[in-house]
Amino acid sequence: MRRVWVTVGILSLQATLSLADDVPEPVTHADFAPVDMDLALLGRDLFFDPLLSGNLNISCATCHHPSMGTTDSMSLSLGEGAEALGPDRHVTARNRPVARIARNAPGLFNLGAFDVRSLMLDGRVEADPDAPFGIRMPPGRDLQRPVPSVLAAQALLPLSDPDQMAGHPGENAVADAVAAGNYSGPGGAWFIVTSRVANNPTYAERFTAVLGNRPLDITDIGRALADYIGHEFMAIDSPFDRYLAGDKTALNSAQTRGMELFYGPAGCAACHSGALQTDHGFHSIGMPQMGPGLVAETHVDLGRGAVTGLEEDNYRFRTPSLRNVIQTAPYGHDGAYATLDGVVRHHLDPFGALGSYDRSQARLHDVTLDDGDWTVMDNFDEVMRIAMSAEIAPVSLTDPQIADLVAFLDALTDPGAGKDRLGPPDRLPSGLPLDR
Ligand code: HEC
Ligand code: HEC
Repeated sequence: MRRVWVTVGILSLQATLSLADDVPEPVTHADFAPVDMDLALLGRDLFFDPLLSGNLNISCATCHHPSMGTTDSMSLSLGEGAEALGPDRHVTARNRPVARIARNAPGLFNLGAFDVRSLMLDGRVEADPDAPFGIRMPPGRDLQRPVPSVLAAQALLPLSDPDQMAGHPGENAVADAVAAGNYSGPGGAWFIVTSRVANNPTYAERFTAVLGNRPLDITDIGRALADYIGHEFMAIDSPFDRYLAGDKTALNSAQTRGMELFYGPAGCAACHSGALQTDHGFHSIGMPQMGPGLVAETHVDLGRGAVTGLEEDNYRFRTPSLRNVIQTAPYGHDGAYATLDGVVRHHLDPFGALGSYDRSQARLHDVTLDDGDWTVMDNFDEVMRIAMSAEIAPVSLTDPQIADLVAFLDALTDPGAGKDRLGPPDRLPSGLPLDR
């Protein structure tokens, strides 16, 4: 009896040891940029305030709503011009959207971590010592002043995107400036948005209290939004975090088996490595594509390839962090998969999954836009190029093993993130209606 116990003890010790190489160190608050709470509170109000949009009709929260895991729960969003939230969002006669947004609105968890050096699913906002103020922005939108992080820089982009928040030429001054390619100059899109905020007495007074008496700049708005996102959506108190901190009872047996697969034979940690389950790199896993894409006519989205111009980067997207992933369905850069089970199975056999992809799981708003939602998937040559780009060899797992992996992904959830910290504002300084 005693011998059996010893053997089992040694075996489980070995399992723990072989995993220990790959299982990350615990994440702590020291891994995150410090946050100014007065700025974070300002950022909270700005995040929900349609004042930042050209036609005063959409806020960051419309697509990144805390009640839907900081997303809109759809494959592709409907941007400015539409009304209501999530699946209920619909178009009205006024300011009809021209197209769906080309990519899935991603979750905003843990973006305040120092490790996050690039943002957007293709990394087009990226720390780069050669770029103005150390952050490379998309062409024409260089920073004019320093910001503390890529997160603060990123926040400037949706404001000047016609489909996301700015609106279309002829509708408002922000949209006209964007159409003229004027972002940061006098009369530019960022300049107009900043004036609107500066001319609001409540925002002006609160910003002055933090920044002192100087003119407000768009980068101050970016900093406030970044402090809010960094604080409110920090997600580092999950069962897995408690496990890493030493509480070996924090994971149940299915979650433990899933972790062992994830950091072992399933090969997930080859890309989803490190404390936040991402190598912050770019890979192709041969995802099905839908919607307008980034190229007219073909509707294709080359991902990282469109940023670097390198053919080998085609169809590569940033490895997503998997924290709170259970809350951010649908999955993939265009939300092609409705469930975690579906996207995990895709990884195990990208070629096969692409061939047998079930379009009925796409969560698209029921509106007629000139999108050609399935132009890519109807193009055999394009689908073959996507399939051939996939960087993972097939892995064979049983159904119970896949269920264990999904159980482990569930254990990456910090239920407090986006829920029990600042919460949504009661009312907005602009007096505009709030998306609840
Ligand atoms: C119409 C929907 C929509 C609105 C409004 C919107 N976003 Fe997004 N957001 C997206 C989509 C889609 C992406 C992915 C874009 C890409 O990769 O090209 C994204 C990406 C991001 C990212 C990068 C996430 C990552 O992991 O790289 C951040 C941060 C972000 N948004 C913050 C904001 C903020 C702040 C606002 C308001 C100023 C905002 N968003 C408004 C849809 C939206
Ligand atoms: C070759 C690198 C690589 C490997 C190995 C890998 N992934 Fe991924 N994973 C990615 C990339 C890149 C994406 C996003 C792809 C896209 O949107 O086109 C992704 C997406 C995901 C998503 C969807 C996340 C979201 O927010 O949409 C989940 C869940 C996921 N992976 C889990 C896993 C699991 C579980 C494994 C192991 C079975 C695994 N991955 C192995 C690179 C990888």
